[in-house]
Amino acid sequence: MTSTQARAAIILAAGQGTRMKSPLPKVLHPVGGRAMLDHAIDAAEALGCERIVVVVGDHSPEVRAHVAKRLGEGAIAVQDPPLGTGHAVLAARDAMAGFEGEVIITYGDVPLLKGRDIEAAFGGGEGVTVVGFEARDPTGYGRLLIDADGGLEAIVEHKEASPDQLRVTVCNSGVMAAPAALLFDLLAEVRNDNAKGEYYLTDVVELARGRGAPTRTVMAGEDAVMGVNAQAELAVAEALFQKVQRETFLAAGVTMPAPETVHFSFDTEVGGGTTIEPYVVFGPGAKIAGGARIRSFSHIEGATVAAGAEVGPYARLRPGADLGEGVKVGNFVEVKNVRMDAGAKANHLSYLGDGVVGAKANIGAGTIFCNYDGFFKHRTTVGEGAFVGSNSSLVAPVTIGAGAMVGSGSVVTADVAPGDLALARGVQTAKAGWAARFMETMRAKKAAKSA
Ligand code: UD1
Ligand code: CA
Repeated sequence: MTSTQARAAIILAAGQGTRMKSPLPKVLHPVGGRAMLDHAIDAAEALGCERIVVVVGDHSPEVRAHVAKRLGEGAIAVQDPPLGTGHAVLAARDAMAGFEGEVIITYGDVPLLKGRDIEAAFGGGEGVTVVGFEARDPTGYGRLLIDADGGLEAIVEHKEASPDQLRVTVCNSGVMAAPAALLFDLLAEVRNDNAKGEYYLTDVVELARGRGAPTRTVMAGEDAVMGVNAQAELAVAEALFQKVQRETFLAAGVTMPAPETVHFSFDTEVGGGTTIEPYVVFGPGAKIAGGARIRSFSHIEGATVAAGAEVGPYARLRPGADLGEGVKVGNFVEVKNVRMDAGAKANHLSYLGDGVVGAKANIGAGTIFCNYDGFFKHRTTVGEGAFVGSNSSLVAPVTIGAGAMVGSGSVVTADVAPGDLALARGVQTAKAGWAARFMETMRAKKAAKSA
């Protein structure tokens, strides 16, 4: 059954997350370079939810700000103090006013869940649908009590469960869907006379049954619904996320001799036929075309790399690095906010920040774009086919014309016209025989001293 009703999502994120032992609110911890909460919002968007409300705690202004920035103030519902999952959903009632379709409830700390994993939760008619999963270890989870006809009787929390119920391995993922009106009606009846003294969202199942409303279970994979409570689980979620990314890129024709050492972000793009050597890290915003080579120990974020380009080993591409076809960026070169046109090279030990390097230009070892005067950033332009000698400082704003040369060790503070040679360094003098005489004198002194 596919539903045609309007959809909305309520994402619970008001828990304190104390077990993370981190000053950063739990749901803002990243998986694949993206906050867990954003993964949850992504899933709700993928499901076509026209309204998304995030329930936040009063203790967490950062989470509020994060939600406001992405979804607007209207998407925030505050639960203060946190009195349980049922109480949290009720806190979203005002923000849901006027919405008449189906509501899905998810958690902000379940980072691997995709919209498609819970699509089947919609379409439960005038009843409640719970997303269950088969747990390897059900400890701590609510158990789904399913009757002989496959209907869902109730959810019993671990702390409340009888020894028989504890043997049930079909557990509550926490994801639940129901028509908005029914959901808020049922929640108004939930009491907190239980082991934790909390208002349990899970109680709505029994209440629905009591009214004769249908209740059902749809299943999802355990990995997809895994929740993060502590750092160890965050690391497990990250490992699962990376595994999927690696498999996806291998299947798409990316060559990776040691995929287990390569770290991707949620939005990394890599074209088929590109080789990624061991120990490469992609931060958010990396786009690598097919047929490039990313060599070991490189760190790439917010950067674009075209076909035939070679990066690393030990290169760092920062936001705005844009490498054209066949560009080479070698060891210990950092590139930030610089476009390098086709065939340009910076092979060793350089910092290129804020500027443009023309096609086939050669940036010698140790070149620095001095882009910052302590107050403002300035741009450096190196023209097509220019040659910048090793260990030069290009003090921005400055332009090196096409085909110009800069002598090694120059500190360039003025523009260089196309085709010119700029020399901006001490003039070399020679003192004939000086070194030989000096060494001879010193050797004699040393010999006299040790005699
Ligand atoms: C809950 C379910 C349990 C299920 C498990 C799945 C209930 C009563 N229990 O248990 O059946 O197996 O999730 O992981 O629903 N939250 C709030 N406000 C609150 C309390 C919680 O926003 O007052 C949020 C938390 O931030 C978290 C989510 O709700 O994202 C779940 O809360 P948590 O306390 O972890 O529930 P569990 O005891 O794990
Ligand atoms: Ca939990």
